[in-house]
Amino acid sequence: MSTEPDRWTAVDDYFTGLLAPPDPALTAALQESEAAGLPAINVAPNQGKLLHLLAQLQGAHRILEIGTLGGYSTIWLARALPADGHLLTLEYSPEHAEVARANLARAGLDKITEVRTGPALDSLAALHAESPAPFDLVFIDADKVNNPHYVEWSLKLTRPGSLIVVDNVVRGGHVTDADSDDPAIRGTRAALELIASHPKLDGTAVQTVGTKGYDGFALARVLD
Ligand SMILES: C[S@@+](CC[C@H](N)C(=O)[O-])C[C@H]1O[C@@H](n2cnc3c(N)ncnc32)[C@H](O)[C@@H]1O
Repeated sequence: MSTEPDRWTAVDDYFTGLLAPPDPALTAALQESEAAGLPAINVAPNQGKLLHLLAQLQGAHRILEIGTLGGYSTIWLARALPADGHLLTLEYSPEHAEVARANLARAGLDKITEVRTGPALDSLAALHAESPAPFDLVFIDADKVNNPHYVEWSLKLTRPGSLIVVDNVVRGGHVTDADSDDPAIRGTRAALELIASHPKLDGTAVQTVGTKGYDGFALARVLD
């Protein structure tokens, strides 16, 4: 008898094969990331397709990503942009950023994407100082302890109607542990509580299962 995770993987494989099949650039991005020793903590293909569809539904011209890794989710998001669109992705590790830049170039997306290295909190402050045009979608997928700060910065860098997506909000189910001293759980809870309480945010959170195990994400819309 198959275990539950085996069943989740089989269903994900079916969904992905049907609705989010790999192509050479996506496959190469994962292969090159693995070859460079990056951890396999990218979004699943069907989650990447979800990000792609959300960006299209937003009519996004400008996307901000916090947490690049090897650029796998970046490719899915950037492919939703028009030719004059722009995606800025922030990554702490210069090694990860280098792999991502190569993956984005191979995917033909280097003209509309930019990878900036450094701690995202520093990059976000520097970005804000540039007074950029508002981003239509923000994907938050970096160090979870800083999630509330990333939501705060997202509010400063977006417009009414923008969408904020926060990945990995379930923490193996321990997100319900109000007394947890795990910084990732505390950061995730603080981000969710900010989404719940902020007058300029309206959001929800959803649990998921699949090839990445038991996980989930939060969505928040920026209000007037
Ligand atoms: C879960 S991975 C991103 C996965 C990627 N979004 C994808 O789905 O393909 C998280 C990334 O955030 C980066 N990161 C961690 N802490 C960071 C920080 N303080 N500032 C910027 N990036 C950070 C890590 O180096 C890692 O590459």
